[in-house]
Amino acid sequence: MIILKSDEEIDKMRQAGKLACKILDKVEALIAPGITTEAINELVERHTRENGATSAPLNYKGFPKSVCTSINDVVCHGIPSKKVFLKEGDIINVDVTPILNGYHGDSSRTFLVGNVSKEAKAITECAKKCLELGISAVHDGCRVGDIGFAIQSYAESLGYGVVRDFVGHGIGKTFHEEPQIYHFGKLGKGTRLTKGMVFTIEPMINERDWQCEILEDGWTAVTADGLLSAQFEHTVAIRNDGSVQILTAP
Ligand code: MF3
Ligand code: CO
Ligand code: CO
Repeated sequence: MIILKSDEEIDKMRQAGKLACKILDKVEALIAPGITTEAINELVERHTRENGATSAPLNYKGFPKSVCTSINDVVCHGIPSKKVFLKEGDIINVDVTPILNGYHGDSSRTFLVGNVSKEAKAITECAKKCLELGISAVHDGCRVGDIGFAIQSYAESLGYGVVRDFVGHGIGKTFHEEPQIYHFGKLGKGTRLTKGMVFTIEPMINERDWQCEILEDGWTAVTADGLLSAQFEHTVAIRNDGSVQILTAP
């Protein structure tokens, strides 16, 4: 069942989304060679609390930290650690989800650590473009497959793989709701998206093959071939006047 939101609820979600954006801006300023992913976790947790929110990832299905930090071949759900240091040339996705006044705002960006290879820069740019293309496909009455098609056709035209194992999702008072937003698909197919729906689009783009594996910790998803992966995520609403609003934009 898809839980439809009123414009009043969407306005509250915009506040949570704005906070997610602000937190990611803070993270961006911190990112540098030599910092630990635990330092990112501390900054996210502190900034979340200072703004009267809580971190949805913390203890979510047993996830041990307040944010996901996914470096290079880590596709998603990387766990912050004081043993993991950023180094020049890394790419790192940071995925934050504050809960503010009962509503979730879910967003992630991939950051470049110092100077990176042209491959690392290119896949990061592709993932960002994929999110933009996915959002551009959203309108009242569109199908989930329209979003997936926009993303998949672009990414594959550049030789990249689109991750199948993890998808975008409805969001609201709960972190993950229906519908599932596939980042691959066919035009005109899948669930119809209508007024009052709020969901994330969060394409994970792999350098070559889309296959993933989960590490022993039960969370960290990595590319099966050990190549790079990049991701960007926004929370998007179709308001009750039919307009599309990016809730996690500045
Ligand atoms: N923020 C992720 C998403 O985009 C979910 C992370 S779940 C966690 O849906 F438990 F790993 F935090
Ligand atoms: Co997220
Ligand atoms: Co999400």
